[in-house]
Formats: sequence, structure tokens, C-alpha cells
Amino acid sequence: MGAAGRQPFRALGLAVLLVATQAGAARPYRGGAVATAYPPASEAALQMLEKGGNAVDAAVAAAFVAAVVGPYHSGVGGGGFALVHDAKSAVTQVLDFREVAPKGASRDMYLRDGALVPGLSTDGALSVAVPGAVAGYLELLAKHGKLKPAVVLAPAIRLAKQGFWVTPKYQQMATGRAECLRQDPEAARIFLVPNAQGTPDVPPLGHLIQQPDLARTLGLIARSGAKAFYAGPVAQAMVKTVKDAGGLLTQEDLTAYKTRSPAPLETTYRGHRILTMPPPSAGGLAVVQVLGMLQQLRPQGVPYRDPESLHLYVEAVRRAYVDRAKYLGDPAFVQVPLERLTSPGHIADLAGGIDPKKATSSASLLAPVTGGPASTLKKDAGPLTPEPEKKNTTHISVIDKDGNAVAMTTTVNYSFGSCVVAKGTGVLLNDQMDDFAAQPGVPNAYGLVTGEPNAIQAGKVPLSSMSPTLVFAKEDPKRVMLAVGSPGGSTIPTTVIQAISNVVDQGMDVTRAVGAGRLHHQYLPDELWVDKWGLEPATLSALEAKGHKIRRVDGWGDAEAVYSDPRTDLRYSSSDPRNEGAATGQD
Ligand code: DON
Repeated sequence: MGAAGRQPFRALGLAVLLVATQAGAARPYRGGAVATAYPPASEAALQMLEKGGNAVDAAVAAAFVAAVVGPYHSGVGGGGFALVHDAKSAVTQVLDFREVAPKGASRDMYLRDGALVPGLSTDGALSVAVPGAVAGYLELLAKHGKLKPAVVLAPAIRLAKQGFWVTPKYQQMATGRAECLRQDPEAARIFLVPNAQGTPDVPPLGHLIQQPDLARTLGLIARSGAKAFYAGPVAQAMVKTVKDAGGLLTQEDLTAYKTRSPAPLETTYRGHRILTMPPPSAGGLAVVQVLGMLQQLRPQGVPYRDPESLHLYVEAVRRAYVDRAKYLGDPAFVQVPLERLTSPGHIADLAGGIDPKKATSSASLLAPVTGGPASTLKKDAGPLTPEPEKKNTTHISVIDKDGNAVAMTTTVNYSFGSCVVAKGTGVLLNDQMDDFAAQPGVPNAYGLVTGEPNAIQAGKVPLSSMSPTLVFAKEDPKRVMLAVGSPGGSTIPTTVIQAISNVVDQGMDVTRAVGAGRLHHQYLPDELWVDKWGLEPATLSALEAKGHKIRRVDGWGDAEAVYSDPRTDLRYSSSDPRNEGAATGQD
């Protein structure tokens, strides 16, 4: 486009910028835009866009940097989910690169004398599932990227060598996992520093964490691809470290690891097409069901913070989490009646069961389907909520200048995963085994109850809450309008649902949509969580009067979102103000 041709666009851009600035909204970008939980990851993504890379190059560069600077959230020893939209073909593909249970895993591996052993599925070698992140990131690049792995991994390698500074978030996370990290000398050496007594402890703010071993591992991956991780010295070190510490990972497990590419889950919300993550995510189904119920219960829209409307939202969420507990598991192992669960008839039935006047007790929804899997759910399950400093995971959203989009959520599960580092490699391994129902019907680390379909089996993928989601423009169902996702364990789906509703129903700009207060219910425990930005006292009282038991929680989640305005083609990005991330883009 010549300079003259750009004038009207510039004038429009300026006008929008002024309006946006006056409203205190996010700034617009004419090129690609990115949101991640770490400034260096967003910067790396932006660099890829500037080098001519696309949304996938940017997202993968950010994911590798996240593995270096946010070891408490995600890493090459973890796994995740991505939705990738290719603007040219208008096709959206899903990549499931989540961890799988090792071959030696078995249903009761975390029980001793029939009782769950605390910590066994979250801390140490026995909690490690077969990692999928490296296979996933490289497959994304190979299938959809434009740049070479060496270019995309360069920022991560540099940061691993040069180091990054300890932030308040790092300290919070390391405090929560200090005891666990101390159990592994290699993890303690890398992520803690000796205190005056010589005990490995949480490093001070500004302390430089350098990871030369990880830099070497990333260098090998950049040169030789995923085989540098799944075979050879890195794989040998992972297997030996885990085995020596009493875990199950074998070379056979690593060799057998394969990603999966299921079709995305699809729904429509107030005229917007939505694509989200299918099982083994339970999050996408919750997004589909809750939005479906809200659309039916409130055809005219969702008034903001109106108690009647919030009550319907909470009741819809409660019911979606019941279905999760009853039916969901890895579809390669259990029959998930997905078609029925997403059908308008089923969603109408769920919505029809909601009493607009009062809260349904979760216990009353436990009546098992005759002979069905819910018969294993226990009425006294919960309450249990994870401590914030133990929660983790991270989300990356990118929409590039051409409209290609990525929503990727990736994790090592608990903060610092299993706290086990494969000796000499810098690879911090996940504790994703905890996302299985170690004892079907009994809550996991996130207080989540899952049933028999999510019982442990060798080679199975544990059920996840991660819900990377793409919302399309009303005007054009092939054009991505919003890429969004969040960490937060069990709270991930409700964080995503509220961000979408804030944009679609309230017309909020993406910064406000991500920052607004949140409410969460997950059926068990039977409590309504309200974050400190959530609700005014009168609204809380109105909800209490309907029978909701309210628990005030400081905050949760870390939504990362990019919005592309269908009318102006300008992009806006937003990183959750609750955390330390950064949203950026190309002018
Ligand atoms: O896949 C899952 O649902 C969990 N492993 C995610 C953990 C998480 O988000 C912790 N968050 N703050």
C-alpha cells in the first residue's frame, strides 16, 4: 500500500486511538498482537512477528521463553493444548501435547492400604507423567510456522544462559514449593539459594537465575528437533533421575510419546462462533455448556453484576462441573458422550433444572445415572482449595497481522511441577499425574472431583481444565475476534467464560474484560468463590439470600487475551493485571 493509500487508515487509527485513550482502554496495534504472563516472552513473540514470523512462530518462541523464566508455570518437562487458526484456509486445528501416564502407572499407585498418600501425586518422581511440550511446540512450528527452530528458540536459549531476575511472583511460587524443591538437590541448586544456615531457600528479589544446563538442552532441541529430548543423553538423564527417585518414566515411554489432533469443540454464543478445547480438556465442554445455558436463560443478554443474572451463571457453572465429574476422561480410553453433552437438548435440560429463585445444593445433583460412572462420586467430597502459591500454568495468546491466531495453554501442573530436575539437563519435570482421579470421587489438588472415567491407566491423558479458546467475529465466522485462555486449575473455564461474556455481553474492551472481578463455582466444594474485585456488598447479600455460600478469595487466574476488532482490523492485547505479564503488539 502506498503512502497515500495509508492516509485514511492512519486517520482512522488516530481517531480510534484517541477514543480508546480517552476511555482508558488498551492501545491499538495495526500489526500482530501478543499477550503472555512474562515481559520477555511477549518480547520474544514480538521479535518473531518483526522477523516475518506468524502467530505460531510468536507463540512457540514465547512458550520456550516461558519455560525459562517461568519454571513454576510451564516448561519443556510439561505439556499443554493449542488452538491454531490459519487465516488463509480459515481452518482451526487443535494440538493436544499433554502428558500421558507412563506405562508402569496403575489405578491405585497413590494409595497405601486403600488411603491416598498426601503429596505422592504432586511432589517428587512418582508424580511425573511423560512430557509432551517439546513434541508439541516443535510440531506446531513444523506444521504452521514460517521460521526455523533455531530462530524461534534463540531468545529462550539466550535467557537461559544470561539468566533472569527473581520477581515477587517467583518468590511467592518458590515459597509455596520450597520444601518440595529442597528434596531434589538439582532443583534446589538451580531454583533456590543457600540461606545463612546453608539451607536452600527462596532467593531474594533481583537474584539472577541462570540455567546453563537448560540452555544446552534447548540448543540441542534447536539443532536436532524433538528427538534431542525424547532420545539420547537428555532422555537418558530424565529416565535415570526419575527412576533413581522412585518414579516410573522409561525410555520406552519417551519413545512412544505422540501428540494428538482432535477436532475443536464448536458452539455459537450470541451470533459469535466459538472454538474451544475438546476432551481430554474438561474446560472446553464447560465453556460450551455454560454459554449455551446463559444464552437460553438470558436471550436478551447478561446484565452486568445483576444478582439475578449472576445466580443463573453460578447455577449453569455448577451443572457443567457435575457433567465433568460424571463423564469426562481421556476419550482414547473412555467413552465420553460428547455429542449428547454438547447437544442443545441436553443444554436445555440442564438450564431447565435451574431454579431462578434459589441455589441448588450440589449434593442434590449427585444422584447417579443408573449404572453410570457417577455412582462412584462421594457425597462428602471436598472442601479443599489449592493455595495460590502452589497453582501455576500459563497462557499465550497471539493474533498476527494476517489474522492467524494461537491460543495456547501450557503447564507443569503444580508450581515447579514435581520439583524434580533431570540431572545435568535443566529439565524440570511435571507432576501432571495429579490431574487423574487418584481415588475416583475424592478431590485432587484443585478441590476438583473427577470420577471413574478419569482413573489412572497406563498411556492415558489426565483430564485437564485448560481451555484455550477462539471467538470469531459475528460479521465473519472465519475471522478470529478474540484469543483467550488462563491458568488457574479448576477456575480456568470460568475465567475464560467470564472474559468472553465481558467482551460479547458487556462490550468491554479486552483490558477491562480480563481485569474485571471474577466468580467461580465448581460444584464441589459447594461454595461460590468471589475474588476481591468481584462484587459489591449488596450483590453478595442478594446472592447469599438465594442460598449461595460465599467464600471470598484474593484472586485467581492470569487471563491473557488478544482482541481483533472486526470493524477496524486493529488489534488490542491484554495481560491480566493480577500478575506480572505483558501485552504488546506491532505498530
Ligand atoms: O491441566 C490442568 O487442568 C491443570 N494441570 C492446570 C493447573 C493450573 O492451571 C494451576 N494453576 N493455576
